[in-house]
Amino acid sequence: MNDNLINIVKEAGKILKTGFYSEKNVTFKSKVDLITEYDLKIELYLKDKLKSLYIDFEIIGEETSNGKTSSARKKIYIDPIDGTTNFVHSLPFVAISIGFWIDGKPVEAIVYNPILEEFFYAKKGEGAFLNGEKISVSNRKELQNSLISTGFPYSKVDKSNDYFWTIRVFEEILPLTRDVRRYGSASLDLCYIAVGRYDGYYELNLKPWDVSAGILIVLEAGGNISNETGEKYLIEKNRIIVASNGYIHQDFINIINKNKLVELQ
Ligand code: IPD
Ligand code: CA
Ligand code: CA
Repeated sequence: MNDNLINIVKEAGKILKTGFYSEKNVTFKSKVDLITEYDLKIELYLKDKLKSLYIDFEIIGEETSNGKTSSARKKIYIDPIDGTTNFVHSLPFVAISIGFWIDGKPVEAIVYNPILEEFFYAKKGEGAFLNGEKISVSNRKELQNSLISTGFPYSKVDKSNDYFWTIRVFEEILPLTRDVRRYGSASLDLCYIAVGRYDGYYELNLKPWDVSAGILIVLEAGGNISNETGEKYLIEKNRIIVASNGYIHQDFINIINKNKLVELQ
């Protein structure tokens, strides 16, 4: 692991931590999608530092790239605070997420929660780590004994097709599992699979910066990531992500695939 990279992310974590324990200025990107001055501060800091370290990578940040994607071969996706609603409400499930991708594949990943002091890291072919210790997914094989997590898309407020899909799948999955959690940070949801706390996770409408790092961390910890039909998850295209320890993946896909999003469109 590159020491410069770690130092940069740790510094960014200090900004997050200061913000977490301070009064914040909250503004709205949409009715329920919040942003604070700290989201912007962290993203600008990371962009500034990473651009000189990774000159041949395009940097795409949630708050300053206007949702734009590009055809660049090498990309760094940044989510300065994944879990902004938690950040605003003083819940400790917040993280800085940074994913390095080359030719549509993840190569290096960091998810750092400076409040709980958990630093997740993965490098292609070298494994996944939490605070320097190697981690791996759980070995629970039954969906009924599994703890699942999910998230609700911001588009829920429109009571659109996304909302009805979310409710329908949730209704079906909930009784078939040990329980379902909704912690409010997609990058941490993925890391919690990698470290064996959760056994599975699914969500609709995530953006590349939400999952760019978590995907590699799950894969390097021995888990599985796909779209809703079990095929490869395309980070800039697919709308539904399914992640698991591998064992429960097919059961999970069967339920999600039965409730097709397209039927509602
Ligand atoms: C959000 C979180 C949340 C997920 C949302 C994301 P943000 O990211 O990851 O868990 O359900 O869809 O947008 O807005 O806090 O960076
Ligand atoms: Ca996010
Ligand atoms: Ca964010």
